Amino acid sequence: MKNISISQQIWDASLYENKHAFVWQYGEDLLQWLNPKPGELILDLGCGTGQLTAKIAESGAEVMGIDNAVTMIEQARKNYPQLRFEVADARNFQVEQPFDAVFSNATLHWIKQADVAIADGGAQPIASIHQALKPGGRFVAEFGGKGNIQSILQALYTAFEKIGLSNPQALNPWYFPSISEYTTLTEQQGLEVTQAILFARPTPLADGTAGIKNWIQMFASAFLAKLSAEEQLQVIHTVEECLKPTLYQEGYWAADYRRIRILATKI
Ligand code: BEZ
Repeated sequence: MKNISISQQIWDASLYENKHAFVWQYGEDLLQWLNPKPGELILDLGCGTGQLTAKIAESGAEVMGIDNAVTMIEQARKNYPQLRFEVADARNFQVEQPFDAVFSNATLHWIKQADVAIADGGAQPIASIHQALKPGGRFVAEFGGKGNIQSILQALYTAFEKIGLSNPQALNPWYFPSISEYTTLTEQQGLEVTQAILFARPTPLADGTAGIKNWIQMFASAFLAKLSAEEQLQVIHTVEECLKPTLYQEGYWAADYRRIRILATKI
C-alpha cells in the first residue's frame, strides 16, 4: 500500500459563501450565548467571510474579525467594508487592546492540539484567547466535538483502503475534543468554564444529491490533495455509497455533526 502525507486546507471564499451558508446560519444560535452589548469590544476568531461578525456588530458592539485565510478576509472586507478584518493565526495572535469577549464559531476544530505542542513556543489558541481578553472577559465558542462527522470519516477511511492507500487517519486535519478534555485545557489557561455542552446537530447540506461531494471538496481537501482526478472521483463515489443508507434522505444529505459549545470567563 502507498503511504500519503497531509497538506494544507485551501479556502475558496466564493464556494464557501455559495454552498455552505449553513456554517454561519447555524452559528447565529451561538450569539445568544455571547449576548453582545452596545459599546463592547468583541473579537470574532475565525470569522470566514464575515456574516456573523456583521450580526454581532448589529448589537452596537465594536467588532473585529480575524481569520488565517487571506481569501476569506478579502471577501469579508468586500462584504462589510465598514467593519475591521485582519489576517491572523488563532494559535498565535496579539491584540492592541483587550476585548470584552472572544467569539468563535466552527473554527477551533481546525487546530489540532497535537500540532500545538510542537508549534513555535507551544503556542495554542486558548492561550492567545486568554491574553486577548480583559479580566472578566468572555470566551464563547462552538465547534466540532467528540464524535463529530464520525460516519463521514469512517467512509473516507474505507474509500482510501479501497484504492490501496494506507493510513488515511494521518490525513485527518481535525480536532474534536470531549467536554472534559476541552474544559480542562481551558481552565489550565486561566479561564473559568461556566457552561459546556456536547450535542448532535445533523446538518442538511445544500445542493441536493451533490451535497456530500461539495462538502468533501470544500472541507476535506486534505484527503484529496495528493490524489489523481480519477482517485478523487473514486473516493467520493465510495463515500457516497457508504453513507447513502444513513445520511441521505428525501433528496438531501445531512452531515452527522456533533458540536461542543463552551462559555468561559477570564479570571
Ligand atoms: C464542522 O463544522 O464540524 C466541520 C466542518 C468542516 C469539516 C469538519 C467539521
